[in-house]
Amino acid sequence: MQAEPSAGELLALGQQVLLPVYQPRQMLLARGRGARLWDSEGRDYVDFAAGIAVCSLGHCDPELTAALVEQAGRLWHTSNVFVSEPPLRLAQELVAASRFAERAFLCNSGAEANEAAIKLVRKWAANTGRPPQQRVIVTCRGSFHGRTLATVTATAQPKYQQGFEPLPEGFRHVDFNDIAQLEAALAGGDVAAVLLEPVQGEGGVLPAAPGYLQAVRALCDRFDALLVLDEIQCGMGRTGTLFAHWQDGVVPDIVTLAKALGGGFPIGALLAGPKVAQAMQVGAHGTTFGGNPLAAAVARVALRRLASEEIAANVARQSQALREGLQALNRAFDLFAEVRGRGLMLGAVLKSEHAGQAGAILDHAAAHGLLLLQAGPDVLRFVPALTIGDDDVAAGLARLRQALAAFVGG
Ligand SMILES: Cc1ncc(COP(=O)(O)O)c(C=O)c1O
Repeated sequence: MQAEPSAGELLALGQQVLLPVYQPRQMLLARGRGARLWDSEGRDYVDFAAGIAVCSLGHCDPELTAALVEQAGRLWHTSNVFVSEPPLRLAQELVAASRFAERAFLCNSGAEANEAAIKLVRKWAANTGRPPQQRVIVTCRGSFHGRTLATVTATAQPKYQQGFEPLPEGFRHVDFNDIAQLEAALAGGDVAAVLLEPVQGEGGVLPAAPGYLQAVRALCDRFDALLVLDEIQCGMGRTGTLFAHWQDGVVPDIVTLAKALGGGFPIGALLAGPKVAQAMQVGAHGTTFGGNPLAAAVARVALRRLASEEIAANVARQSQALREGLQALNRAFDLFAEVRGRGLMLGAVLKSEHAGQAGAILDHAAAHGLLLLQAGPDVLRFVPALTIGDDDVAAGLARLRQALAAFVGG
């Protein structure tokens, strides 16, 4: 019998055989339950990362697991040239939950959902007779929309684009939360859509300022441009409402979802409002795996649970606990300039004297049994499961206290 490979051997294997686009933490995660993870040595971690805001119902949620297993014994895949029930029901439920959409397009990831949105915008503009140079999409600096060539171009951060030129044409970038800049960007009359995140995630956990989205909507209406909201990270209950933009009082034309929609099973979705729901014709777009019955069966359960009162109440409760805990840590260590965000999408912004040191703090956190994320080099990002309980929030904060003490102690 072959001996079990050690964690070290597997980590070394990863460095040999994977394209080196990631530098994962050198530990091997073996098992998860709720808001806890265990590595191959049996060490436990409080998980404030949730697979990058994906495992919103925690790890191995029994109801999600049951839906997956049940569907796995029934039907795995049909493609979209044949029909099965789970994707139809999921689309129906997403449309109903959205309060604005008429139709859904199911796909496999966030980038793919945004790619579909970009194509839908262009198709809509083409259908209305606009020439290609009048199909510009405006996006915001600091945004993140994905890694395909079009979505990385929409992502207005040069670090993600360098080396991949030539980039596709037809994108214009403005500062987030600056309505005057947006007005200037639209003034030429060549803009087909504005695409933005109601709460920027990767760019530093930065929410839209009060009134900003309403002003964006008004400008879109004035210049006949579509409003596309990327809720891939901030949607599905994370900020305290099923859709983040409900808190801003706007009605979008297109919304994109992924991440928590599958609770850890890959799925993405585009929701299309009345203006664009009929813009694509047969053959205009597609994807082999989109609407896969396994993904759809899991997402139906995730959607129902994430839309519930219980989740909203827990997000409000744990958001307050986490904010208060972070403020208390700041009174002890004086490291944060600001704690910002909404619901369970929070960012602790490091003071300028600690700029660039989020990664070092993450190392200390992992060493003390806490998995954290950064959002850029200066922001600690907190996106735990929306089901996290009082005990795990308290345990995570206690471990963060130890980590920050070690960081400050050098
Ligand atoms: C707001 C936002 N949009 C799009 C994406 C891309 O999603 P994916 O990695 O599933 O392609 C992400 C991923 O972090 C995201 O946070």
